[in-house]
Amino acid sequence: MTDSFADLAGRAARVLPGGVTHAARAYSPPLYVARSEGSHKWLVDGSVLVDYTMGHGALLLGHAHPAVVAAVREQVGRGTHHGANHPLEVQWAEQIVAMVDSVDEVRFTASGTEAAMLALRVARAATGRDVVVKFDGHFHGWSDAVSVNLVDGEPCTATGVPAAQLETTTVLRAGDVEGLRAMLDTGRVAAVVFEGSGAHYGREPLPQGFATTLRAECDRAGALLIIDEVVTGFRVATGGMQSLLGIRPDLSMFGKVMAGGLPGGGLGGRRDLMELLASTIEHPGTFNANPLTASAGIATLVICASGAPQDAAAETAAQLEAGWRDVLQRHGVGGAVWRLVSIIHMRLDDPAAHAALAGRMREEGVDLLHTSAFVSAVHTEDDVAASVAALERALRPSP
Ligand SMILES: Cc1ncc(COP(=O)(O)O)c(C=O)c1O
Repeated sequence: MTDSFADLAGRAARVLPGGVTHAARAYSPPLYVARSEGSHKWLVDGSVLVDYTMGHGALLLGHAHPAVVAAVREQVGRGTHHGANHPLEVQWAEQIVAMVDSVDEVRFTASGTEAAMLALRVARAATGRDVVVKFDGHFHGWSDAVSVNLVDGEPCTATGVPAAQLETTTVLRAGDVEGLRAMLDTGRVAAVVFEGSGAHYGREPLPQGFATTLRAECDRAGALLIIDEVVTGFRVATGGMQSLLGIRPDLSMFGKVMAGGLPGGGLGGRRDLMELLASTIEHPGTFNANPLTASAGIATLVICASGAPQDAAAETAAQLEAGWRDVLQRHGVGGAVWRLVSIIHMRLDDPAAHAALAGRMREEGVDLLHTSAFVSAVHTEDDVAASVAALERALRPSP
C-alpha cells in the first residue's frame, strides 16, 4: 500500500515536531521518498526527482552504489554491533590515514556533530586552554560549543544554548585577521575551527590566503588548527579541502562521504594529539566505528581513493554550472551560479524568487539542498540536460 503525501504529512504532524526530522527537509508541499538509486529518487506517488541533495552531501557515489550495497549486505548478516574491536575499523582507519596526509590516527564517532565535539575536547586537553575561535556561518553540527554566530554583528548563541557559552566560544567574521590575532594574543585560545570551503560548503568562500594565515597564526600562538572536512572530506579531492588549500591542520573532522551514506563520523589528526584518547580523554560511544557503517565507509573510500569519482563529479558539475548560468543569462535573471569542485551554489537577486527557487525546481523534477546541488559521480549528461531544462521552466514567469 502506498500512502499519499497528504496522509503521511498528516500523520507526521502528529508525531514529529513540525512533521519533519530535519529543518532542511521541511518541504512545502511535503513529499516522501520511497526509493533512491543512482542520481534519482522515486517518490511514494511514483514520480521521480533528479537528486542533488545526495544524502546531505554524503553520497559522492550516488544512491545505492552496487559496491556499497554489497558490502553492507555482507556485513549485516555478520552482525551490526559486536560490542568489541573488529577488523573493519582497522581497515577503515588505515584507508583514511592513507588518503589524508595530516591524519596519523582516527577515532570514529556516530556523526559529524560528535566529531566536532571530540575535536574541541582533544584541543582543550592538549593545550590546557578553554577558548575556541570559530567563524560566523561556519557550521560544525549542533553542539552548544559551536552553535554561536553573529546576529546583527553581535555574537549570539542559538536558542537553547546558554549565553555563558560566549565565554569560551569566540565568533569572528571569516577574514578578520586583526580580530583573530587579538584573540590569540590573550593566550586563552585552545583551537581555531573552520570550514575549509568557507561557510555552507563553499557558498561563502574564504578570503584568498585566509587558511594559510590561520595556520601561521595558530602556530605563533600555540593554538591548534581544526579543519571541518565533514562535507569536503574525500569529496573535493582524495585528500580533502586541506589538500586544495595546501595546509596541514592539527585535527580534521570527518563525516558524510567517509561513512558511505550510513550514520558516522570521525576525528583524525596528529598522533600525539590523538593519543590523548588513549590516556587522559574519555570518549565512550555505543556506535563508535559501527561495523555496518564501516563496511559502507570502506567500500566508498576504496573507490574514491583513485580520485576518479571526484573528477567525474566535478566534470558533470562544471557542465551543470555552465548550463544553469547560461539559463540565468538568457532569461536576463539577476543572480549567480558558482561551484566548489562538485558542489554548485545558486543565488537569485530577487529575494522572493530566491526563496521560491528550491520549491519551483522540485515541481520541475529536481531536488536541491536549499539552492545548492551536490553532484555525484553517477549524475549523467541526461541529468544535466534535464536539470538545465528544469531551471528554464522554473524561472518562467507564472501565467
Ligand atoms: C561542515 C559540517 N560540519 C559538521 C556537520 C555535522 O555533521 P552531522 O550532521 O553528521 O552531525 C555538518 C552537517 O551538515 C556540516 O555540514
